[in-house]
Amino acid sequence: MLANKRILLIIGGGIAAFKALDLIRRLREQGASVTPVLTRAAEQFVTPLSASALAANKVYRDLFDLTDEAEMGHIELSRSADLIVVAPATADLMAKMANGHADDLASTLLLATDTPVLIAPAMNVRMWQHPATQRNLATLIDDAITVVGPDDGTMACGEFGPGRLSDVPDLVAAIVARLSDGPLKGKHILVTSGPTHEPIDPVRYIANRSSGAQGTAVAAALAALGAQVTFVTGPADIAPPQGVQVVPVETAKQMLDAVNSALPADAAVFAAAVADWRVASQSASKIKKKNGALPSLQFEENPDILATVAQGKTRPQLVVGFAAETDDVIAHATAKRERKGCDWIVANDVSPATGIMGGADNTVTLITDDGAEDWPKMSKPEVARKLAARIAEALK
Ligand code: C5P
Repeated sequence: MLANKRILLIIGGGIAAFKALDLIRRLREQGASVTPVLTRAAEQFVTPLSASALAANKVYRDLFDLTDEAEMGHIELSRSADLIVVAPATADLMAKMANGHADDLASTLLLATDTPVLIAPAMNVRMWQHPATQRNLATLIDDAITVVGPDDGTMACGEFGPGRLSDVPDLVAAIVARLSDGPLKGKHILVTSGPTHEPIDPVRYIANRSSGAQGTAVAAALAALGAQVTFVTGPADIAPPQGVQVVPVETAKQMLDAVNSALPADAAVFAAAVADWRVASQSASKIKKKNGALPSLQFEENPDILATVAQGKTRPQLVVGFAAETDDVIAHATAKRERKGCDWIVANDVSPATGIMGGADNTVTLITDDGAEDWPKMSKPEVARKLAARIAEALK
């Protein structure tokens, strides 16, 4: 699955570095050629000789190794790869990457490249959870770096929690996905997902029951076909998918701003359950009880993000909406498609008896120019894969 793919594997200095040796073997089994780079700290955990022997390749270690510069400069070294993998990515390497440091071979290679990068963090639980590491992680995700793991589990230091390097087969799967020559390669697709939160006062808000599961699955399915995905998400229950650019927002207004700044796109899928109304005058301080007098809330309408984009100047070639209805599903969704000006509507019945909202499965009808097409009941990821395949077909 990785035939002719060239992977530059940067091994960071952590106890999980020994797993990078197994990763080299598994990648080579899939047909990849692997060029290992060891940080100075990594050499405390694995030897350059082991890495070199398993990779059947030269190992690079030092920025100032003049022989290497004569043979192949560090710029060439980083750019000649199809993918740069950092495993394990230590807290220190992540901090260097997020801040653009270049004070050793590994960090210089990472800064000098325009090759896609995938990192597999591994570190102590507290280090992972530290606000500094989480800040750096957010920056790296913004920079379109694919992050795999870390997994939960018992750590070498005896603590339990997130921080373990992902298992080698999972790393190989993520690397294969990242290198896929999918039909959506080179296409930029925008996906909105999740609910929005509309504040009433600093501590209260209006929301809805959207879990973000379907939108997240759509973003993952598009990325798996090679699309560059911008994922604009309200506060959802589930984690965003790997390998997409995540833009977290809270309110409908913020979602519209994020969508506008993500345009242009080749296609856009609006899976978010955007609140139709927001509170007109949010209270700057917490609303207090007043001897039984009830507060009254005035509402104003939120922007319709889908309609704005579908009828806007920078309209993507394909605009797909979702319609969650509780009655007359097809009639309402068909009217909605006309009114909003989108190309397709994925309609579903979200009356409580269906269990769709927050559930694992979905039964949808795809409404296009050609009419309404009922899809059988399937899991949300299956709906997403089927939809992604149709989008790939439409953008061909
Ligand atoms: O809420 P409604 O049924 O109108 O949603 C239909 C479609 O419009 C969905 O794709 C939803 O994401 C989108 N929408 C939007 N902005 C809104 C309301 C809905 O983008 N304010």
